[in-house]
Amino acid sequence: ASTFDFMVVSNRLPVDRISDDNEESGWRRSPGGLVTALAPMMTKSDGAWVGWHGAPDETVRPFSHEGMDLLPVQLSSDDVELFYEGFSNATIWPLYHDVIAPPEFHRTWWDSYRKVNRKFADAVARHAADGATVWVQDYQLQLVPRLLRESRPDLKIGFFNHIPFPPPEIFAQLPWRREIIDGLLGADLLGFQRPSDAGNFMRSARRFLGASVKQQQVHVKGANGQVTHIARAQAFPISIDVAQIRELADRPDIIERAQQIRKDLGNPKTILLGVDRLDYTKGIRHRLKAFEELLADGHIKVEDATLIQVASPSRERVEQYRLLREEIEGTVGHINGTYDTIQNTAVRYLHHSYPVEEMVALYLAADVMLVTALRDGMNLVAKEYVTARQNDDGALVLSEFAGAADQLKQAFLINPHDIDGLKSTVLKAITLDPKEARRRMKLMRKQILDHDVDHWSAEFLAALEEKVVRDDS
Ligand code: G6P
Repeated sequence: ASTFDFMVVSNRLPVDRISDDNEESGWRRSPGGLVTALAPMMTKSDGAWVGWHGAPDETVRPFSHEGMDLLPVQLSSDDVELFYEGFSNATIWPLYHDVIAPPEFHRTWWDSYRKVNRKFADAVARHAADGATVWVQDYQLQLVPRLLRESRPDLKIGFFNHIPFPPPEIFAQLPWRREIIDGLLGADLLGFQRPSDAGNFMRSARRFLGASVKQQQVHVKGANGQVTHIARAQAFPISIDVAQIRELADRPDIIERAQQIRKDLGNPKTILLGVDRLDYTKGIRHRLKAFEELLADGHIKVEDATLIQVASPSRERVEQYRLLREEIEGTVGHINGTYDTIQNTAVRYLHHSYPVEEMVALYLAADVMLVTALRDGMNLVAKEYVTARQNDDGALVLSEFAGAADQLKQAFLINPHDIDGLKSTVLKAITLDPKEARRRMKLMRKQILDHDVDHWSAEFLAALEEKVVRDDS
């Protein structure tokens, strides 16, 4: 088997299967910044990506796509049910997002999570060259760093958590809290979205494993009380492929498409936009509530404003996601039934995912972008909207509970639980003076321009290569 010097491992491979009418199947690179940032490393250096190909019970041989070597991990339908839908998305996901939905704790799910994490770790261990660098991605694979350190102490191991890390008071609920912390601490460097996430992790390491924490170092002790390993924990806020969004926002056909979207909606004065995976963390219900009340109060008229809500299908076999879909679709039906006229629709609800070209057209068409997440690791939609607004107009309403709020300080920051506050802020954003809009957008666009996703991966990998000097202060 061939070996690689740089390996990325994530639950999903960075490709999606496409099949044409003749049932011929092929692969297409997944949308999103992560693969854009890492593809050059994959193709330049001797790199490979380990991940699941998305089809239960199917064996896919290693293959290469656009110059990237991909090493597929096979998952059985049991693995998908217990490891992916169960432990990853019905235990860890709600637990790490402030228990917005109640996390479920099942021992069979945990057993499967351990087993599948071992599967991923084994695949990496088999293919990693001596002294290789391995970068593990996200909450589905928190045990992989420890498993790798045990089987391959020669490796340099990084881990990045794309979602929030909860405070120890919430993390404490997890029956396997010690094992998870220990799993993560196998890494040399742990990256988080916000400084508060890194801080939460370090407090949990101290509380549940008795590790000592010095600045950004976690000193892991062996049975004799001696420090056996030092893991560092730091914030590295992720970003987007700025060049791609700018290029699309400049394209005449996409600018024209944005105008067409406005026309198709009857040229309303204001278009508001929400773009989310259909997930209970995104605060879609709170957004609709505020919008409905603004219509009811008469502050917004259906002739003047439309809310476009793109809700892309997600994790549809997980019960909480099914319930959410019913609730949101019921609410949208209620709002539209009450406020629509023959000519005008209050909420254009779209349960689809769209190619990035159409997303950029929507960003260009929208006067106000609504990001009302109750908890979100980062929220890249906020960064994409700002980047697309090359004329420096438009307004971003942004939840303070999204990681992006750390960087986008000139957004209209809101607490989505405060419906009155949300309503008055939406009104402010709608009636914003163009000069003030420009001032805010310019500063935010500059921030993102200087910190794109290449910057993120370069910073993380540079920190991973740093020599660690033990901090005993
Ligand atoms: C979030 C997670 C990712 C995940 C994505 C889509 O962004 O941080 O790890 O891949 O959602 O969810 P899915 O369950 O479809 O992979």
